[in-house]
Amino acid sequence: QWGLDTAWIGQQLYHYDQVESTQDIVHQMAKQGKPHGTVVIADEQVKGKGRMAREWHSPQGKGIWMSILLRPPLPPVQAPQITLLTATVLAEMVAAESTLDPQIKWPNDILVNHKKVSGILTEMQAEQDRIQYIVLGIGMNVNQDAVDLPPAIAHKASSLKEESGMEWNIQRTIQSILRTFETTYDQFIDKGFEQVKAKWEHYGYRIGERVTISTMRDTWEATLIGIESDGALRAKRDYGKVEKLYSAEIHWGEG
Ligand code: BTN
Repeated sequence: QWGLDTAWIGQQLYHYDQVESTQDIVHQMAKQGKPHGTVVIADEQVKGKGRMAREWHSPQGKGIWMSILLRPPLPPVQAPQITLLTATVLAEMVAAESTLDPQIKWPNDILVNHKKVSGILTEMQAEQDRIQYIVLGIGMNVNQDAVDLPPAIAHKASSLKEESGMEWNIQRTIQSILRTFETTYDQFIDKGFEQVKAKWEHYGYRIGERVTISTMRDTWEATLIGIESDGALRAKRDYGKVEKLYSAEIHWGEG
């Protein structure tokens, strides 16, 4: 019933009503030897996982809760590029299917009108200098109304419906993501990261603006410049030094 016109992604596609987390299912499938491009989708997750051990609220029928198994022929240091690539695919989809103006907050949150509508969780299994597999988790708030969003995050999270005023067809939206993902991924494997980097910077949030950056060591003001080919964030200190950041929190305004 999915009728995907793709070459490799979703050739094996598993659709469940309810799961704990699609991430865990794909980890199991990876260990059973399921192929590159295997996709698991759920209508509802009761233990959805976000980054940094956070919860990801995944109510029944309201969003895209999906994990993709990838077996890229790459070293582990390139895994962050796949996350950034995925963010560009999601931003492109939103831009193509609506009049919304999506932005990517480094490294990989999709924002609309400054609110998060989508997040990506990349989990990797590596063996020495090769990626064994990646479980790429995509969570997208699609048809939630304001009341469906957890109150604790309602000020900074939203859904495509809330921002666009229209109900989205979830299956069509997934098909559109998978199609664009396949093309973009193939291009990346063939030609490298440069095109992805350009697209990422096109959608990049607060690029060119002054922000406050906190790392484990200190907090300072800087202007965001863009990303490095390895996925690091580039930020320029007020006295001119350019820093590469692999892990940091970005703040602005009073937030
Ligand atoms: C984030 O913290 O921004 C990442 C959220 C990722 C959520 C998705 S939903 C599908 C997959 N299964 C999970 O349990 N998490 C990811």
